[in-house]
Amino acid sequence: MTLSSAPGKVYLFGEHAVVYGEPAVPCAIERRARVRVEARDDDHVRVRATDLSLDGFTVEYHGSTDERPDVDVDRSLVDAAMGYVDAAVDQARDAADAPDAGFDIVVESDIPLGAGLGSSAAVVVAGIDAATRELGHELPPEEVADRAFRAEYEVQDGQASRADTFCSAMGGAVRVEGDDCRAIDTPALPFVVGFDGGAGDTGELVAGVRRLKEEYDFAADTVESIGDIVRRGEELLTESDPSAQPSEELLTELGRLMDFDHGLLEALGVSSRSLDAMVWAARDAGAYGAKLTGAGGGGCIVALDPTPETRTALRFTPGCEDAFRAELAREGVRAED
Ligand code: MEV
Repeated sequence: MTLSSAPGKVYLFGEHAVVYGEPAVPCAIERRARVRVEARDDDHVRVRATDLSLDGFTVEYHGSTDERPDVDVDRSLVDAAMGYVDAAVDQARDAADAPDAGFDIVVESDIPLGAGLGSSAAVVVAGIDAATRELGHELPPEEVADRAFRAEYEVQDGQASRADTFCSAMGGAVRVEGDDCRAIDTPALPFVVGFDGGAGDTGELVAGVRRLKEEYDFAADTVESIGDIVRRGEELLTESDPSAQPSEELLTELGRLMDFDHGLLEALGVSSRSLDAMVWAARDAGAYGAKLTGAGGGGCIVALDPTPETRTALRFTPGCEDAFRAELAREGVRAED
């Protein structure tokens, strides 16, 4: 039996634009998916998934991944999660040159599904790592990241960047621009996450931005402007001292850039009433900046605030189901005992 875990992430900047080759800076956070894998002596795959959301619903899913569980949750989310597990299994079989390997798999996650915190990337990354190790193969995290990207790309019909999977596999803050992915050393930023209890459909939202970009010049310009914000933010991060507390100046400027980024994402049509309400509640509570994170449409926002004020304000914001501090996860995918 082999157990691996991988972190979720927030986007400091750059979601959506990264799909068109602009840079993005996601940061791994200490919310993890854990995947436990045990090899079977036939070629079947059985999956059990528990705690796939912050509000604690439990999915008991027995059977092969083509039978869907009968549970009282959004079925499309469960189906999507199972699709990612299937794709991870295919990658592990390929990496270990064991096309007929079968597995019993248990997925546990404290990252809400489809809410912009990289739940699918974390499940795929931890799944590939655990399944290949179970078959006696140790992959470097860069290869886990690459295989996880291929798995996500397949499940999302070609609408995926390397950002989520690279960040989850490597941990810390990363910079992704097309195929060029690297770690950036940053101070521990004081992230606060607000969650509206919902989820967006990443494929749909990415396709919507693509349509807008094809039809309107403003949308193409907006995508480029997001790229400019990311370049500016990245410069600030690389000039800062990663071992020191982030300075007031750094937080102020990063916060402004986050606010700009949120405005541009809103113009691209990927925000929602509850995401905007949480963003404004965070700003009113004194956060340095706030924006949606991930594909949008519902799910999570991320704010910068070292004090408890934003978290408290979010908890009283209509439409916000949960708010929590999210520490930067310096470690990416890892073996667990
Ligand atoms: C989704 O977490 C982030 C998007 O930029 C899509 C992607 O990068 O694959 C919207």
